[in-house]
Amino acid sequence: MQQHDLIAALPKAELHLHIEGSFEPELMFEIAKRNQVQIPYQSVEEVKQAYNFHNLQSFLDIYYAGASVLLYAQDFYDLAWAYFEKCQQDNVVHTEIMFDPQTHTDRGVAFETVIQGLHRACVDAEQKLGITSYLIMSFLRHLSEDAAFETLKQAEPFKDKIKIVGLDSSEVGHPPSKFERVFSKARQQGYLVVAHAGEEGPADYVWEALDLLKVNRIDHGVRSEEDDILMQRLISEKMPLTVCPLSNLKLCVVDDMAQHNIQRMLQKGVMVTVNSDDPAYFGGYMNDNFYAIADALALSNLELKQLAIHSFQASFLPNEQKTKWINKINAI
Ligand code: HPA
Ligand code: ZN
Repeated sequence: MQQHDLIAALPKAELHLHIEGSFEPELMFEIAKRNQVQIPYQSVEEVKQAYNFHNLQSFLDIYYAGASVLLYAQDFYDLAWAYFEKCQQDNVVHTEIMFDPQTHTDRGVAFETVIQGLHRACVDAEQKLGITSYLIMSFLRHLSEDAAFETLKQAEPFKDKIKIVGLDSSEVGHPPSKFERVFSKARQQGYLVVAHAGEEGPADYVWEALDLLKVNRIDHGVRSEEDDILMQRLISEKMPLTVCPLSNLKLCVVDDMAQHNIQRMLQKGVMVTVNSDDPAYFGGYMNDNFYAIADALALSNLELKQLAIHSFQASFLPNEQKTKWINKINAI
């Protein structure tokens, strides 16, 4: 089997995906038109030309602007449904989807509108496509901890639809310690917790996410390699890192895919996984991320299977579901 065919054939779980980052320009234009919202671009080509980021902030500015056309539950449904269709194409059979409620509530869109649209798409994806999913409510770390507390409160009536709490947006200058109290409350309320750390921020932020936020998983975490003691801890605790190769390249976290550390970390025994982060902005969905690292780093077929197995081990699926998918991978 050709290696790209193996990648396509492997069942995979996606654990780091921002639904607002899966907003393709074509759908953005369609929704802007039906909602009669102005966007500062004349064509899809013009939108794509604006996607020349050089760091996280230059991306986030455009990402938040794009999300501003989303107004109604149907818009959130259409956004999520388009992503589920990509999952089906890429054999992503389970996904844990991040959404940023504050990006919408701060514009006057009700929390309920966002969750209704996303949740209905999740239910339909399971019924019609057989794809399972969980929602991760992410706090914007450039905003205050009080604002995160307010969001946690708004989520209370919808707690049965949200399994996980996360932390995203501008990392440097907004350490995990800023959110220690609200994460503690979220854990008390029964949420699992994840946080972006060690993308642009230092390895110290990964320590904080582990020790202060008590996360079950680290998003990105690629800068952990700068700290040997942290690496030993990640390995011994089997702490998952949700690595996003095309994102790292596009945001200049790495200069060249051949220099990406995912293979090195895998070989050292870190529970690394492959994810697409914001695929509409970074040039590809799950399989594109696998193709990019397989080609640039000459990954073996065994390493590719290991990454797919990790994606289920690092997921929040029940154990019997994990075992079912891992057995299927081992049978390929
Ligand atoms: N990092 C931080 N915040 C984000 C990202 C990311 O990669 N994508 C969307 N919000
Ligand atoms: Zn992310």
